[in-house]
Amino acid sequence: MQFRQILITGGAGFVGANLAVLLKQSFGDVTVFACDNLKRRGSEFNLPRLSHNGVVFLHADIRCPEDVQCWPEFDLLIDCSAEPSVQAGLSGSPLPVIQNNLAGTVNCLEAARRNDAAFLFVSTSRVYPIAAVNGLPFEEQPTRFVWSRDGRRPGWSAGGIAEDFPLEGARSLYGATKLAAELLLQEYAYSYGVPVVINRCGLLTGPWQMGKVDQGVIALWVARHHFDQPLRYTGFGGEGKQVRDVLHVEDFFDLVVRQMRQPSIWNGSVYNVGGGNDVSLSLRELTDLCRDATDRSIPLAGDPATSPVDVRIYLTDNSRATADFAWRPTRQPAAIVGDIAKWVRANEALLRQIMA
Ligand SMILES: NC(=O)c1ccc[n+]([C@@H]2O[C@H](COP(=O)([O-])OP(=O)(O)OC[C@H]3O[C@@H](n4cnc5c(N)ncnc54)[C@H](O)[C@@H]3O)[C@@H](O)[C@H]2O)c1
Repeated sequence: MQFRQILITGGAGFVGANLAVLLKQSFGDVTVFACDNLKRRGSEFNLPRLSHNGVVFLHADIRCPEDVQCWPEFDLLIDCSAEPSVQAGLSGSPLPVIQNNLAGTVNCLEAARRNDAAFLFVSTSRVYPIAAVNGLPFEEQPTRFVWSRDGRRPGWSAGGIAEDFPLEGARSLYGATKLAAELLLQEYAYSYGVPVVINRCGLLTGPWQMGKVDQGVIALWVARHHFDQPLRYTGFGGEGKQVRDVLHVEDFFDLVVRQMRQPSIWNGSVYNVGGGNDVSLSLRELTDLCRDATDRSIPLAGDPATSPVDVRIYLTDNSRATADFAWRPTRQPAAIVGDIAKWVRANEALLRQIMA
């Protein structure tokens, strides 16, 4: 593998900490730095795990150029620090999400340029416009909405949304900051030769995700079942039929390693990354899996009102990543939920602190 000094921003968060630990476990001789401002509640629980696996933790805020200038030398930056909620800014000022996801990412990009380092960006499926995604033809089935097979749209098939899906239209402040960052990343790749890869991810999940109502829904659902706390189906009629694909963070790690081994793609390439149709579920179906995995049933209310940033169905068309890296997701929803439930059971005392 070409990279020896890897710096992961958001390195105490769900994706960042899992990548950091897996990198050290798989390639013991690389140095991995995890930088985080520990803003996300629960990220502090990852610090002993990072240390135990030989990851070097650096307390830093990516919005602060002085913090970023103090970073040690590195040859790859994996950007996992963000305000990751699609609801961000909706009920207040947009500045925090813009400063974090756009200005902060620019600080990281500048650090990569100064270090002659490569940049792997964890972007989001939320770059695709809400009205266009919700305008795709669909049918209602007993447990989920499904896209109809009839009709053709650019970048879309019943199998999912591909990289050439049109980008015109509003997408949430979260999605807009990520897309704006993507544009700058591609500009740095073109103007300065910074090696860049962009992964537009659907829902990522797995153990060590500190699920909350506005982000990390799969882990939240499992933990609420475990701790016997109520949940609510929100939006699209309040019946829990909205659908997402999910990707276990270890399947994502498998893709990242394949990308790290292929220098030819580090030119601003964009990949849609997710579980796809085969690894997808509705909230109702998630509830059934959680009941099986935790042996508990909890009260589930319904609220029909839909948030302006919610989408009815999102499924990833992974074809480009499959063609370039011979990569496919391997873990199915029941196994993913089972894995999270096992982790919740093993860390009950810790997690009770944030579930209270
Ligand atoms: N989890 C998903 O489903 C998903 C899907 C698509 C994309 N992503 C992207 O993946 C990345 C990681 O998401 P996650 O799910 O691990 O979220 P997370 O909240 O668990 O992790 C983000 C980490 O970044 C840290 N952080 C936030 N602001 C910071 C700042 N200014 N300086 C330093 N650290 C800061 C937080 O404390 C947290 O530990 C994000 O960029 C997110 O947009 C996540």
